[in-house]
Amino acid sequence: MFFDNIASLFSNDIAIDLGTANTLVYRKGVGIVIDEPSVVAISVDGKRIIAIGEDAKDMLGKNPEEVRIIKPLKDGVIADFQVTELMLRNLILRAQKKRLLIKPRVLVCVPSGITEVEKRAVRDSAIHAGAREVYLVPEPIAAAIGADLPIHKPQGNLIMDIGGGTTEIAIISLSHIVVHTSIRVGGDKMDEAIVSYLRKRNNIFVGIQTAEKVKMKIGSAYPLEKELRSEIRGRDIITGYPITVEVTSEEIREALSENVTAMIDAVKHLFEKTAPELAADIAERGLILTGGGAQLKGLDKKIQDTVDLPVHVMPEPLTCVLKGCGQVLDNLEDYREVLLKKIES
Ligand SMILES: Nc1ncnc2c1ncn2[C@@H]1O[C@H](COP(=O)(O)OP(=O)(O)OP(=O)(O)O)[C@@H](O)[C@H]1O
Ligand SMILES: [Mg+2]
Repeated sequence: MFFDNIASLFSNDIAIDLGTANTLVYRKGVGIVIDEPSVVAISVDGKRIIAIGEDAKDMLGKNPEEVRIIKPLKDGVIADFQVTELMLRNLILRAQKKRLLIKPRVLVCVPSGITEVEKRAVRDSAIHAGAREVYLVPEPIAAAIGADLPIHKPQGNLIMDIGGGTTEIAIISLSHIVVHTSIRVGGDKMDEAIVSYLRKRNNIFVGIQTAEKVKMKIGSAYPLEKELRSEIRGRDIITGYPITVEVTSEEIREALSENVTAMIDAVKHLFEKTAPELAADIAERGLILTGGGAQLKGLDKKIQDTVDLPVHVMPEPLTCVLKGCGQVLDNLEDYREVLLKKIES
């Protein structure tokens, strides 16, 4: 403990939200220092990083054979350990203003359903990437802290984090997750649903990036006051030529409906597992939405209508988890209870 206190004066401790879609890094006492897509462009032999983050994402679908574009996380967990480690090493180095003698302590947020094997993988990647010690925090707890919910109190706090790979729903009371459910449906599955819908209905093949842009621009879960339209470019399935078609927000809503239903069913499923006292707390306070997927137009209304609960989207849903991680890192002693397990390097 004494060593830790002294060491923290000479190192740049950092917190990382290692997400399927975006990786964000917080440096103690400074704030968010990195916010990039979790995408890596790498040489074919897997040894050399060509680009990371936004630059690598821009290459998706346009890369020559000599360059591989990898999203090292899938469904909220590490799918490619080597590339994750390369990415983490690069981010940890970048996050430190200057390299200090003592390696940083690194706090990483992880999905709450993470297995022991996956925990070890995250820990090993961070250690190999230059961490002195690694702390893990479950993502819904980090989201709740970032949303300023009173997680230490004996009352139910309901949080739903919709990321790229997973949707996690949890009730937190007395600093612990009391009930939890997680589905591997998030923004990525929505993008895939749009690609497949357009292929079947409009005979047009569009890339996943295009689908994501359409989702953000005109995607919705609930009828809009003024329905929207957007032009999209892709390849005609029959002729193979590039074409442009117009799509409407009604069509995109239909494409997304199955995924939206899966998310709402997950909320219902959580309630089936919830004790009546907690349910009463929740009925009063409602559901807090975080994560990029929470920005889907009308999702709050759709959930509110279906499960009959007040629903609030956090003002900056994409950074909420990292904000919570940063708060834990800045006040480790106060938040000991939320750490999954202290892992010594
Ligand atoms: N306006 C928007 N409408 C709909 N979806 C959006 C919008 N903005 C961002 N998204 C989606 O949010 C997702 C990214 O959210 P976030 O950064 O919270 O995920 P993540 O933390 O990387 O993933 P996970 O927590 O599952 O590992 C992407 O799928 C993105 O397309
Ligand atoms: Mg996330």
